Amino acid sequence: MSALQELVTRIASCPNCDLCKTRTRAVPGEGPENAEIMLVGEGPGYHEDQQGRPFVGAAGRLLEELLGSVGLKRTDVYITNVVKCRPPQNRDPLPVEIDACRTYLERQIELIRPLLIITLGRYSLAWFFPRDTISRVHGHIRERDGIHFLHMYHPAAALHGGLRAVIEQEFRKIPEALSKARQTAAPAPPEPAVEQMRLFK
Ligand code: URA
Repeated sequence: MSALQELVTRIASCPNCDLCKTRTRAVPGEGPENAEIMLVGEGPGYHEDQQGRPFVGAAGRLLEELLGSVGLKRTDVYITNVVKCRPPQNRDPLPVEIDACRTYLERQIELIRPLLIITLGRYSLAWFFPRDTISRVHGHIRERDGIHFLHMYHPAAALHGGLRAVIEQEFRKIPEALSKARQTAAPAPPEPAVEQMRLFK
């Protein structure tokens, strides 16, 4: 079992905050272990809690459509959330819940090493950049510690808040953000055999 699979198993039975008492299933996240792009949402809703998978409800269908608009499938990206268990009645996650879950997202980032992290909504933005506000930085691309970030409104804001055109525009920035991220990505370490040949030159 890979380190990421072990982490997913650990999250599935996490007892670290009160959300474990009301959840049906924890929603650790899903996607390729070597994904270049990681999407970070807020927390599971009703359908996610039922299925144990992120973004499978209405916001998820829109997310897939928006990814498709730039030639991506959901299986191309790693999708997860700031909190891994559904807050009752889909209320906002509490600071204590976000903190209880913090090490899980930290470890997911460490293991997957995405080049580009897309933050979806204000809770995800605040997890990485607590001083910023979404209305000011949405659509922005920036780099910190070797990872590029693209900040977006949450897809639910397109469904309920009339921000569809804005979010479509933000998704159109993914190719640019990814190409910037690839340009600055650290080159892979040389193959051992190549190293050996260099030593013998
Ligand atoms: N909204 C989120 O933020 N995450 C999900 O997984 C589903 C809806």
